Amino acid sequence: MAKYPLVAVVAMAKNRVIGDGKKLLWHIPDELKRTKMRTMGRPLIMGRQTFDSIGCALPGRANIVLTRRQDWQAEGVEVVHTIEDALTTAEAWIDAETEREKEIIIFGGAEIYRLFLPMLRAIDATLIEATYPSNNATHFPESDWGRWTEDPAYPSTRTEAQGTTPAYRYVRYVPSIQPRQ
Ligand SMILES: NC(=O)c1ccc[n+]([C@@H]2O[C@H](COP(=O)([O-])OP(=O)(O)OC[C@H]3O[C@@H](n4cnc5c(N)ncnc54)[C@H](OP(=O)(O)O)[C@@H]3O)[C@@H](O)[C@H]2O)c1
Repeated sequence: MAKYPLVAVVAMAKNRVIGDGKKLLWHIPDELKRTKMRTMGRPLIMGRQTFDSIGCALPGRANIVLTRRQDWQAEGVEVVHTIEDALTTAEAWIDAETEREKEIIIFGGAEIYRLFLPMLRAIDATLIEATYPSNNATHFPESDWGRWTEDPAYPSTRTEAQGTTPAYRYVRYVPSIQPRQ
């Protein structure tokens, strides 16, 4: 049971590709800026491989990294080894200062999205209107998409393709049935 809502923030291609296991497959500066704004002041729960792909702790947010390695550590990171510890750490970080946003961001990658999927209150997705090779790629987990519905109240802006940057749009999916928390 999480004390605060859990929201996944993800950018994914049409075929649900989110990266190649080491990095993203696109470079969309405006999307990165938006993700920064969307996650600022909130705790992020991410997998160790996503942390490695970013390479450093993101400022203005709690960087909570799940790993099974008992000896793993990195500067600016809160290391956790279980889902329960990840949630407790995120909640404690929010509660430590009154102005912090009362929302926990599930920041990826695929293994971490999969772990938290049943608990999500929403998926804030950037849908990239392109398909990337699936072989050896990392995908957003299979979901019963019938369980998710687009939130019509969410401002779903679309950006046209420009040069090598594909078109993309922002969508919020919410479960038709409320998740267990
Ligand atoms: N497009 C997007 O929005 C987005 C967002 C995030 C990431 N990505 C991409 O996704 C890829 C990485 O995703 P990924 O699925 O390979 O890795 P990941 O989910 O970032 O991290 C996996 C790691 O998390 C740890 N872990 C997983 N389950 C655990 C559990 N139950 N308990 C404790 N630790 C656990 C393990 O770390 P140890 O091996 O250290 O034990 C595991 O290797 C990269 O390409 C990245 O760029 C894309």
